[in-house]
Amino acid sequence: MKNYLVTGGLGFIGSNFVRYILTEDETVKVINLDKMTYAGNPENLKDIEHNENYSFVKGDICDRDLVEKIFSDQKIDVVINFAAESHVDRSIEDAAGFIKTDIEGVWNLLEKSKKYGVERFIQISTDEVYGTIAKGSSDESYPLLPSNPYSASKAGGDRLAYSYFVTHKIPVIVTRASNNYGCYQYPEKMIPLFITNALEGQKLPVYGDGKQMRDWLNVIDHCDAIRFIIENGVPGETYNIAGNCEKMNIDVTEKILEILGLEKDLMSFIEDRPGHDRRYSLNADKLSLLGWKPKKQFHSALEETVLWYKNNENWWKRLKDEEFKEYYKKNYGYRMDIK
Ligand SMILES: NC(=O)c1ccc[n+]([C@@H]2O[C@H](COP(=O)([O-])OP(=O)(O)OC[C@H]3O[C@@H](n4cnc5c(N)ncnc54)[C@H](O)[C@@H]3O)[C@@H](O)[C@H]2O)c1
Repeated sequence: MKNYLVTGGLGFIGSNFVRYILTEDETVKVINLDKMTYAGNPENLKDIEHNENYSFVKGDICDRDLVEKIFSDQKIDVVINFAAESHVDRSIEDAAGFIKTDIEGVWNLLEKSKKYGVERFIQISTDEVYGTIAKGSSDESYPLLPSNPYSASKAGGDRLAYSYFVTHKIPVIVTRASNNYGCYQYPEKMIPLFITNALEGQKLPVYGDGKQMRDWLNVIDHCDAIRFIIENGVPGETYNIAGNCEKMNIDVTEKILEILGLEKDLMSFIEDRPGHDRRYSLNADKLSLLGWKPKKQFHSALEETVLWYKNNENWWKRLKDEEFKEYYKKNYGYRMDIK
């Protein structure tokens, strides 16, 4: 058996990864360390909480004593660090938690990995570290030009992890994926926000002219790529993970409305996000040459995603009606059309 320390495993991608790996690989045990911020939801893993290969620790990746105890209690073979503050809008409002978790937290995990030794340390970074890409696509050697506090703190964690490979020979691999979509995504992010607003008959608040370009990666493809990289990736390397599906936000929005049989006049164009990156575009040839490509088709996977939110109203309604709605009223009420 291998012990995987998964951090942030109650969030969107982390919870999908925990379910995916426990289903696909019976030789893996998962220890899930999650602080349970607003984005960490135990409901996301309700179906596997009694799995004998799964255990949960509530706590902060910045907590030195707690992380020390996890490493000293059992041999950790692989660390997969998903834990992060992850929402750009919140980082514009207050960056403190981003710098703490996305940089200091990474450092704490690296230090313990150095002390106890690990086979792999996977730092989940993001395509946002490249900043906006006017032309062409960014490969892994492209300069990092993050332009908001979220992406800047992720770039810090990304390069800190790499420095532990160079300096301390920790077998670090960094992954930079594009925008994910799928089930269990907190409804502050664009696709679940728009699907759930549409299901509630509310406006879909599109930033600016809606022509921002993003590459869309289904979360299950992302989980599959991470597993592939744990098994086949080379320590010290960085891998872009793309969905090979670049679309303007407005086109994704229209597609959601089309799937739900709703009219385009449900879209409401609002003041753009400050420092909003216009375009992200990944060149993922390196991962493709290593042998991994995304399998999901955007249109059918988006339909599956819409259906999941339609069938799981209990999951998102509570989130939207409680903390989330207060947050948006307080911080973005002037830009949002929340009833
Ligand atoms: N969502 C995307 O489109 C996307 C794309 C590329 C990369 N990423 C990266 O993937 C990772 C996961 O993203 P997500 O969308 O699932 O985020 P999320 O916000 O849904 O989940 C983050 C999880 O981390 C936990 N967490 C936060 N701070 C913590 C701390 N200090 N200690 C322990 N746990 C903590 C939260 O409780 C939550 O469960 C992040 O590192 C993010 O930067 C996300």
